[in-house]
Amino acid sequence: MKLKLLYSREQIDARITAVGHQISEDYAGKEVLLVGVLKGCLVFMGQLLPCIEGDVAVDFMTVSSYGAGTESGDLRLVKDLDAPVKGRHVLLVEDIIDTGQTVHFVREYLLDKGAASVQIVTFVEKKNRRHVEGVDPKYFCFEYDAPEFLVGFGFDIAEKHRNLPGVYQLEYDGED
Ligand code: IMP
Ligand code: MG
Repeated sequence: MKLKLLYSREQIDARITAVGHQISEDYAGKEVLLVGVLKGCLVFMGQLLPCIEGDVAVDFMTVSSYGAGTESGDLRLVKDLDAPVKGRHVLLVEDIIDTGQTVHFVREYLLDKGAASVQIVTFVEKKNRRHVEGVDPKYFCFEYDAPEFLVGFGFDIAEKHRNLPGVYQLEYDGED
């Protein structure tokens, strides 16, 4: 397996700064609650947070698929929020939106708990892989439409490669 650099640290820094600026403007005068979907959001959210000006709070959720398959739509809550979201403006922080099932599940959950609004920010938007309608992110750093799996910058394959500073495409070279 080979790793090919897709987004460098410089490209990543520039996009996150721009998205943080946009979020600061849109939520000016309101508190925004960032809800990160663990674990993939870890590095992205850590870098986005100080790029947002104003009143910001953070919380985290973990969701997991019931089945072993990677495309299973049966999700369950593994780690709940620490604080109530009722009446709050939530910005859901996802690493990568693929089919859209994860953000759909989490957004419905947050709305059900009485969030005043729920918008989505994702680092990578795999728009042409979407199965679920109506979960387009309000903010994204990169749109990606190639088939290769992405690792690095918090994104893993079987818990590996999260620590790479940039984002890499996994390329199979016939040896594995
Ligand atoms: P979805 O529910 O199909 O939208 O899948 C989203 C989840 O799958 C994300 O939270 C990621 O953790 C994971 N995922 C999707 N594509 C990739 C990838 O290319 N690399 C690493 N994780 C991915
Ligand atoms: Mg994830």
